[in-house]
Amino acid sequence: MPPEPRRSESGLPIEPVYGPESLAGRTPDAGPGEYPFTRGVYPTMYTGRPWTMRQYAGFGTAAESNARYRRLIADGTTGLSVAFDLPTQMGYDSDAPLAAGEVGKVGVAVDSVEDMAVLFDGIPLGGVSTSMTINAPAAVLLLLYQLVGEAQGVPPAALTGTVQNDVLKEYVARGTYIFPPRPSLRLVADLFRYCRAEVPRWNTISISGYHMAEAGADPAQEIAFTLADGIEYVRTAVAAGMAVDDFAPRLSFFFVARSTLLEEVAKFRAARRIWARVMREEFGARDPRSQMLRFHTQTAGVQLTAQQPEVNLVRVTVQALAAVLGGTQSLHTNSFDEAIALPTEKAARLALRTQQVLAYETDVTATVDPFAGSWAVERMTDDLEEAVLALMARIEELGGAVAAIEQGHQKAEIERTAYRLQQEQEAGTRTVVGVNRFRLDAEEPYEPLRVDPAIEQQQARRLARLRAERDGPAVSRALDGLRRAAEGTDNVLYPMKEALAARATVGEVCDALRAVWGTHTPVERF
Ligand code: 3HC
Repeated sequence: MPPEPRRSESGLPIEPVYGPESLAGRTPDAGPGEYPFTRGVYPTMYTGRPWTMRQYAGFGTAAESNARYRRLIADGTTGLSVAFDLPTQMGYDSDAPLAAGEVGKVGVAVDSVEDMAVLFDGIPLGGVSTSMTINAPAAVLLLLYQLVGEAQGVPPAALTGTVQNDVLKEYVARGTYIFPPRPSLRLVADLFRYCRAEVPRWNTISISGYHMAEAGADPAQEIAFTLADGIEYVRTAVAAGMAVDDFAPRLSFFFVARSTLLEEVAKFRAARRIWARVMREEFGARDPRSQMLRFHTQTAGVQLTAQQPEVNLVRVTVQALAAVLGGTQSLHTNSFDEAIALPTEKAARLALRTQQVLAYETDVTATVDPFAGSWAVERMTDDLEEAVLALMARIEELGGAVAAIEQGHQKAEIERTAYRLQQEQEAGTRTVVGVNRFRLDAEEPYEPLRVDPAIEQQQARRLARLRAERDGPAVSRALDGLRRAAEGTDNVLYPMKEALAARATVGEVCDALRAVWGTHTPVERF
């Protein structure tokens, strides 16, 4: 009997040998830059311009993070990516009781327009694209960015970048939600409309599968649950009265790249094909840019190990190669020490150098979609497409992504996969080099980067000064205006911008919305 075929991460068979019969009856895809964009969104892809090298970074105070961004730019990074600390992500000021112990830890602390100005000091916002990983308070941070741009003399129409703004996946996997799903979606639609009118080159959302993958989702689940969220956002904006081609060109996505290179390349190709069809057939999008799935990729943090951390450099290289062969628009390569602590400067530089070697020393940028026509990868693309469509159909049966989230569906499915992975690793049927095979008797010592706990007091002092110096009654009036907009149907971003310009803090603005919309309590289902 021939051996059982190996299973992919999505549980699909990978045949030991593929041949022409694997693609029998199938017509080849249209070229790159053509619907359904399986082969890439741009006709020339990296032969025209390499992907954006965008390293996610931020810690401590705005001044410390500003220094790291300047370093990254000097080292050759081509886009910025801001990591905010947990209090900022949850809409709390640094001096809020709930912020204690978390200020500046997993990202930079930003409380007001003053911190934002320090964060981008000396970085002309007209000349860089900036991604901000911010979800529930995405509108707040976008407006702060716009205010800093205006202060630098950069008109909003010239600003380029992305806010993550993908609150649905926060309920499924990442956890930094504030409001319940329905008002959160209204805020997303308000931001789409605001950007269309005021900041037209801004990518209004980064619909993310990365965090679901980190929580355990397999590639098929990652794509299915992410595209289902995407469909929900499109429906929300259409229901709010926007024409699909007025906002869809600025939707973007965010996926993981694992070490299983062939399946990952197939995954990116399948995702582009499915999204293009959904946009054209279900939503009637006519503008090709509305049909293009443009995405950022981060290499899989969950596959990095604290044991023998330098081995992570090898993993990251393979993962990054998968992203590039899959046609990513933007890439973050993890630092080899990320399984231990925040990256040191040297590790961050090596991560960027990995991308530079791929872009400038190899030949992978010389021709577009080099795996096209490979019997194996084409067949794996088709197989994954079928698996993803089945998972998306199940979400539709449950009433769409929000209804499925409210029933705890995606979270339960992801937890099931995570449990299986853990069992395989413990049983040794899944090899993790340095962890369950090829171990060292004694690990070498490693000196990680530590964030100074004193920054919490520093931020509290800055806030006290800000509150003492600003025009208090003007702030209160602006926050009242914001609350009224939240109670009604006016776009909340306009009064929000007034409040932030009057130096209301991130926490105060989010509290005003919390007072009207309430907060979300998760559903658990096992
Ligand atoms: N031919 C012609 N034009 C081309 C081209 C080519 N070959 N390649 C690129 N271009 C053009 C594009 O059309 C675009 O022009 P435009 O601004 O006029 O539209 C310009 O060059 C820039 O190219 P892209 O739009 O392809 O690349 P960007 O880097 O600007 O944008 C993106 C990429 C995916 C659309 C965007 O949304 C993005 O940058 N996302 C990044 C998201 C991110 O960094 N997230 C971090 C998450 S970390 C996180 O979540 C933390 C945690 O919890 C793990």
